[in-house]
Amino acid sequence: MSKLKIIVGTTRPTRAADRVAPWVASVAAAHGGFEVEVLDLRDWPLPFFSEHFGTLGDINDPTYSEPLVKAWNKVIKDADAYIVVTSEYNHSIPGVLKNAIDSVWASNAFRNKPVAAVGYSAGISGAIRAIEHLAQIVVEAEAVPLRNTVVIPFANGAFDDTGRPTSADTSAALDVLLDDLAWWSGALEQARTAGELLPGRVRLRDAVLKAEAAKAPTA
Ligand SMILES: Cc1cc2nc3c(=O)[nH]c(=O)nc-3n(C[C@H](O)[C@H](O)[C@H](O)COP(=O)(O)O)c2cc1C
Repeated sequence: MSKLKIIVGTTRPTRAADRVAPWVASVAAAHGGFEVEVLDLRDWPLPFFSEHFGTLGDINDPTYSEPLVKAWNKVIKDADAYIVVTSEYNHSIPGVLKNAIDSVWASNAFRNKPVAAVGYSAGISGAIRAIEHLAQIVVEAEAVPLRNTVVIPFANGAFDDTGRPTSADTSAALDVLLDDLAWWSGALEQARTAGELLPGRVRLRDAVLKAEAAKAPTA
């Protein structure tokens, strides 16, 4: 079964994420296609990004600057698919979420795996700018952002007393997202098993080094 990690991308007290994330987790668990784990960034107080190639160590089992970053890399790498639950902070994703993604970029933790977004906001936007920005960010991590998302405007009134969405559109959107995620998770798992290319930035560096060596004068 596909290992799905649900990343809760805001941490502040009184956050609206506490209305959205439990619903996403319970519907994902009931879907049947996933073994679900919630990664709440409140439980992962990662340091401000401070990695460099000296802190990375062995890329297949990176040391990183702190044990918590090492553990975060491990839990992210040990996934087949992700749902990011995000609000919109100043037209982008929250800084704490960006920091969590940047922290494991060098070890390719998200690489060749699907990432779906559930966005919510207090106003009418439903975090659509943050969702679009998230897609750009995860492409750089060589992950695969999905087209179908869940957009929840006016999040404070979007759930009833039992924790279910008041809009049928919201529920239907999550069902579509989960079906897509299950399909992409299976397809990419098969592709990874068949063999992965080295990351693009590594292949590019190798190609440049080779071209420069070919140009160097021979003694
Ligand atoms: C720092 C900050 C920036 C925000 N920027 C936006 C924004 O750009 N667009 C928007 O629709 N809502 C914005 N909001 C309002 C959020 O949608 C709303 O506060 C939401 O509940 C935040 O998610 P959280 O409660 O899980 O932290 C912002 C809120 C904060 C705290």
